[in-house]
Amino acid sequence: MVQKTTISVIKCDVGSSAGHHIVPKPLLDIAEQHLKKAQKQGTINSYYVFHAGDDLELLMAHEKGEGNSKIHKVAWDTFQDAAKKAMSLKLYGAGQDLLKTAFSGNVRGMGPGVAEMEIEERRADPIIVFAADKTSGSAFNYPLFRIFADPMNTAGLVIDPTLAGGFKFEVLDVMKNRKVVIKCPEEMYELIALIGTTERYLISRIWRAEDNLICAANSTTKLSLIAGKYVGKDDPVSIVRAQHGLPATGEILAPFMHSYFVEGWMRGSHWGPLMPVGLEYSKCTIFDGPPRMVALGLQISDGNIASDSHGTPLINDLFDDPAFDMARQEAMEYAAALRRMGEFEPARLGAETMEYTTLPQVLKKLRRRFKPA
Ligand code: F6R
Ligand code: MG
Ligand code: MG
Repeated sequence: MVQKTTISVIKCDVGSSAGHHIVPKPLLDIAEQHLKKAQKQGTINSYYVFHAGDDLELLMAHEKGEGNSKIHKVAWDTFQDAAKKAMSLKLYGAGQDLLKTAFSGNVRGMGPGVAEMEIEERRADPIIVFAADKTSGSAFNYPLFRIFADPMNTAGLVIDPTLAGGFKFEVLDVMKNRKVVIKCPEEMYELIALIGTTERYLISRIWRAEDNLICAANSTTKLSLIAGKYVGKDDPVSIVRAQHGLPATGEILAPFMHSYFVEGWMRGSHWGPLMPVGLEYSKCTIFDGPPRMVALGLQISDGNIASDSHGTPLINDLFDDPAFDMARQEAMEYAAALRRMGEFEPARLGAETMEYTTLPQVLKKLRRRFKPA
């Protein structure tokens, strides 16, 4: 029988120090305790706790499928406890992303971000988990396009016949809550037409076209649409499957050789350069950023994350590499250029997106003073 394994990455901003910078150790410790207990009880098989800036990230491998209430409950209870700890320590933004109180079986729509992928394990299954802070789900549109549709990035699309059938992209319209599946290479231009509008369209899932093998799953939460107001950016996660008829790990990492622009950064209101960083630098500083992304590589093994003899998962901190120094340098150069623009577009996001920030409250004060011109 084929081993079916689910990788769940569930994340939440439960509080930070100082400001919106990192997840402090006491909160990571609580997550570690909760997931260790869930592992002992047999709810999950393996886990890894980490953080992307101020977002607490729970990476879990299990056999319960996607959207399972027991798995989501583990995450929800973890975030609740971590938020309580954050409150008791008077950390900043304690419980920030916990937008609802009563858990009803699934954390979707309650604030935390979720990316989940159930796979039928191949002989060896390499997985890359991306997690970003101070940006939104559409931060993955550009690199995922490059990885799964651009033959100038992914040599396999040209050279390896097992990739030649192309890939199918599920694109979500976050404004209308509708989705569409687009097939590449045939509909590449239509795909770009949609996902180039990063404020509205997000890639949510990708499959290999010839056999519908799942190869990528993203979190697509829009916190502002749940809360009806600005409550922090969505700070997305993505799970990408690699190798043997899929893009190679190196092809998946190649788009990050350069920085590119994403929405988010200070107050979720600016265009900012994405900076790929190792876990050590997964913290937001200048202008609450720049928006940062970590990439963790792992192998799935019989329902688990492949681990050492002590049961410690083998996690590869992929952006912890001088090969990404150029992108980091570029990011700071772009950051300097944008910050020189201050609060003038295009450094600041366009008016439609600013509707979901605190700017309308400021403009309200002036409303009555306008006279016909
Ligand atoms: C962006 C983010 C921060 C805050 C900023 C103001 O996602 O979390 O940039 O928006 O630090 O935060 P408050 O309003 O909490 O002082
Ligand atoms: Mg925060
Ligand atoms: Mg965050």
